[in-house]
Amino acid sequence: MIKHLRSAADLDLATATLILDTAGEMAALAGREVKKLPTLRGRTVVNLFYEDSTRTRISFEAAAKRLSADVINFSAKGSSVSKGESLKDTALTLQAMGADAVVIRHSASGAPHRLASWVDGSVINAGDGTHEHPTQALLDAFTMRSRLGRLAGLRVAIVGDVLHSRVARSNVLLLTTLGAHVTLVGPPTLVPRDIAAALSPATKVSYDLDSVLPDMDVVMMLRVQTERMQDSYFPSAREYSRRYGLDLARMRKLPEHAIVMHPGPMNRGMEITPEVADSSRSTIVEQVANGVSARMAVLYLLLGGKA
Ligand code: NCD
Repeated sequence: MIKHLRSAADLDLATATLILDTAGEMAALAGREVKKLPTLRGRTVVNLFYEDSTRTRISFEAAAKRLSADVINFSAKGSSVSKGESLKDTALTLQAMGADAVVIRHSASGAPHRLASWVDGSVINAGDGTHEHPTQALLDAFTMRSRLGRLAGLRVAIVGDVLHSRVARSNVLLLTTLGAHVTLVGPPTLVPRDIAAALSPATKVSYDLDSVLPDMDVVMMLRVQTERMQDSYFPSAREYSRRYGLDLARMRKLPEHAIVMHPGPMNRGMEITPEVADSSRSTIVEQVANGVSARMAVLYLLLGGKA
């Protein structure tokens, strides 16, 4: 088993499949009255969040607690980070406390890689800048497999602000490893061709959402990340929604069995309408539930659990 999960590229087909299978067993636990396993008793998991998060942070905390680990939540606000303490000094503090795993979210792409060189424990990337978010890709793959029964051969459209999306990057890498076919869709300013080619040569690019939808098994809508935009990438929010937003009329162009995903948080009314987000084809709430199972599997396997 790998020691760190810094990138979805750390996962080969066998490892990714083992994590998804283990997540399935963890999900079965969620239906039981007692949801806790004693597996990580006495181990310490630190959640180190330098960037805001709702889902990911709560999900990692729930996952570690269900495995009976001791959990330390650290957020940059209110810590010595606001006094200018560096990531390295924070890492050395965690090291002195004996963290077995450090889950890190940071605005700097590559922060988890640096951290892994300073601590002895496992490092898990919970989102680094615009770079990667591998556990999101795992929970997304788990959700697709649960709903559609397979991953190999699935046709997946990832739509919107690909340029700023760590979710998109990790999904392209993992889905390609798992044998799915990815098409990136959005305005040319937000879906540069070189990104697709660099991630995986088989990844397709389209600027026309309507023409892509009839062939898809999965459509994954991305949040338009205005907080990461220094320039203007499209004329107006209205224009963006008109071309790339998913509303009911567009959703009807999908095949009957196709599902609609979104990692959250959503801009309802921008990339997705409320009617679509709350429809029976949407897996958005399921994705959150599956996030706990996927992260339990990652913690369990990285910290030395047996399959
Ligand atoms: C994403 C993130 O933070 O990378 N959210 C998440 O983890 N569920 C996507 C986003 O912020 O748009």
